[in-house]
Amino acid sequence: MPELIPVIKKDEIDSKVAEVARRISNDYKDSELILVGILKGAFVFMSDLMRLLTIQVQTDFICASSYGSETSTAGNIKLTKELGIDIQNKDVLIVEDIIDTGLTLAYIIEYLKSFGPKSISVCALLDKREQRRVDIKIDYSCHVVEDGFLVGYGLDYAENYRNLPEIYHLKL
Ligand code: IMP
Ligand code: MG
Repeated sequence: MPELIPVIKKDEIDSKVAEVARRISNDYKDSELILVGILKGAFVFMSDLMRLLTIQVQTDFICASSYGSETSTAGNIKLTKELGIDIQNKDVLIVEDIIDTGLTLAYIIEYLKSFGPKSISVCALLDKREQRRVDIKIDYSCHVVEDGFLVGYGLDYAENYRNLPEIYHLKL
């Protein structure tokens, strides 16, 4: 049986999400912000984050999946749900669950740039730096984590464990 080792507790998740929400609310108080969540992993984080924002925002999701190995990004990314709202001349904040190699995010940034937004920033629940392969700026990150495969709070392994309220290291 795979082993689940606790890594980030619910109260630590909640306090960082609240802190990042305060920063975003402050930084974008005079702008028209659009949150673009990356499905499926970011949906739990996005729903908590957006309800703590004190500014008006629009929201949308895109669905990105990489094909290849189950626990690492092979760099082959495809979109299975495209952007559905107009982001031209708007400030966009990408909301992502975890950034590992950065390849998914780099692909999504290029995709979103093609719609002519005013700005693109990145908010990530987890920043896993060891395997980073592209240089990308994460404007708002909640937790820096060690290498290792994490599940819970939206993150999955083969579509399992997304519903766990806290974050665990999955030892296969
Ligand atoms: P990257 O392209 O390597 O940065 O990988 C980003 C995507 O891979 C994330 O959006 C996740 O869906 C998935 N991923 C990377 N590391 C983990 C992990 O530890 N647990 C669950 N999913 C992960
Ligand atoms: Mg993801």
